[in-house]
Amino acid sequence: MLERSELADNALQALHDEDYDRPFNTQSLNADTLIFTRGRHGQSLDGDWNFCVDLLDTGLRQKWFAMLPEAPEDRIEPWDYDPYMGETVPVPSCWQMQKDKWYFFEGSAWYTRALTHTPSEGRRQILRVGAAQYDCKVFLNGEFLGNHYGGSTPFCVELTETLKPGRNWLMLCVNNTRTLDRVPMRNTDWFNYGGIYREVTLYDLPSTVIRDLFVRLDDDEIRVSAEVDGPVDLARFAIPELGVDVAMPLVDGKGEIAISATPELWSPETPKLYEVRLTAGEDEIRDRVGFRTIRREGTEILLNGRPIFLRGISVHEDDETLGKVTSDADIRRRFAHAKELGCNYLRLAHYPHHERAAEIADELGLMLWEEVPVYWAIDFANPATRRDAQNQLRELIRRDRNRASVIIWSVGNENPDTDARLDFMRGLADLAKSEDPTRLTSAACLVNHAKLRIEDRLAAHIDVIGLNEYYGWYEENFEELGVIGRNSAPDRPVVISETGADGDNTDQGPERGLFSLAYQDEVYRKQIATLRELDYIKGMSPWILYDFRVERRQGIFQRGWNRKGLIAADKETRKPAFYTLAAYYAERAAQDRDAAAATKGDQA
Ligand code: GCU
Repeated sequence: MLERSELADNALQALHDEDYDRPFNTQSLNADTLIFTRGRHGQSLDGDWNFCVDLLDTGLRQKWFAMLPEAPEDRIEPWDYDPYMGETVPVPSCWQMQKDKWYFFEGSAWYTRALTHTPSEGRRQILRVGAAQYDCKVFLNGEFLGNHYGGSTPFCVELTETLKPGRNWLMLCVNNTRTLDRVPMRNTDWFNYGGIYREVTLYDLPSTVIRDLFVRLDDDEIRVSAEVDGPVDLARFAIPELGVDVAMPLVDGKGEIAISATPELWSPETPKLYEVRLTAGEDEIRDRVGFRTIRREGTEILLNGRPIFLRGISVHEDDETLGKVTSDADIRRRFAHAKELGCNYLRLAHYPHHERAAEIADELGLMLWEEVPVYWAIDFANPATRRDAQNQLRELIRRDRNRASVIIWSVGNENPDTDARLDFMRGLADLAKSEDPTRLTSAACLVNHAKLRIEDRLAAHIDVIGLNEYYGWYEENFEELGVIGRNSAPDRPVVISETGADGDNTDQGPERGLFSLAYQDEVYRKQIATLRELDYIKGMSPWILYDFRVERRQGIFQRGWNRKGLIAADKETRKPAFYTLAAYYAERAAQDRDAAAATKGDQA
């Protein structure tokens, strides 16, 4: 593939063109190319794919994607990559967890597999990737089909026009390089896994395809909006259990109706879900939706009109063995531990978690904060970064806005209060409201240490002020927390989105002082004693449920892990602070039950 290039008389395309990737960074696969997939049955493409790392992007330079199978002895070109033979990895997986030689690999990697296709008149084939960290370029039979940015949101690509009868070759080039202009950018406090780490599915669909369905309670009506790709002007929407079966007129593929109904409300105590169905042309999708309202009034958060306190915990997607790959069992264990703590709420930090998390939370009655990874020093002045962040937010909202468990969309974490950041994140908060006016918006903000109070210009543009404070850990003067509490008078709810301390529970951990279990527990006791006095605080999600892997933590008590977990990385060993928080949440839950009973008594 050492084709001549137009750069110079003796130039070779593959060696002298440093603009080689521009044609493939289109970000053409995005929120607008998603299809709605719940209730569909697709062909799983999970399993072993051919794999090779490609640190210098030789694949894009030499156009490996255009190679077609040839027996080695028949080749006329010396290949630097063999898409059809060699090493394989399972999909989904993170390459760092497959072989030690790839543990710190950061760059491009190629995934290749065969795809057998039997043409059928009028049918469409659409591929969905659950997530690929970070940038994914899709090739089929040597043709570039599109590119997605964003390491934790799904994307779809239509294969219909490029598929041939019989065997086809599908290639995905995934690049996890951390750069200043990406979201997140190059510096984070979680491990930079790479790969296709969520499920890959191929859908065989009719000519008309339902791209989106959004079902929500809007005061005393059920409001339904849908987007359909195809020449139809009518859809039908049904909720069998409520006796709803109505027509939805479509104009340019879009429709919205309001249905008067009084469904049983979803709540942590009564997580009621209804099956909903939408048909358009020959396409049909289903979902299971809980109906509830969430809003703020002054400094109160109201679920179905009643004040609530969010007894939460923060979680990453991280596993000692699987890295960022999760499973129903892993998610159910995480939620079981949260319930054991006494939680009714979790902060899914710092990026969109697997969609099964919100689906299972719907069933179990847990409320969720979901977040896009606008984390720390993002390149806020860069239009390309803004486009990337906005698309990831839209993909998250379109993926999860039928999930009753999701009550808060968070647009970021611990960003500096600058003009560029304010403009960027106010834009995200406004976008979240336009995509979904039914939920609360938030962000994890920082304490204003200069003024010693809760003050961040973004607070005026979000519903709930998330506050990350680490008094007792990063901030040594613990008394300041009380000062900040008394100095602040926020006009909206505050949730302590992070607080905590490391505790090394291994036999290398210290008996006392920083990183000891005793000190971690002491920080929790002092935090709880202070925060419980501040009545505008309506929730907390301490950092964090489990110890998690991270490159930047190499101290003698960290050894590649952030050890602020209330449970160790084995996802079994509970630390003393786990029980301290659980005791507070038990007390808080009893207090809230009494308050609710008293209110009901007053209303009787
Ligand atoms: C920060 C940040 C987390 C990080 C934590 C810590 O607040 O939001 O991502 O892991 O503090 O330092 O442990």
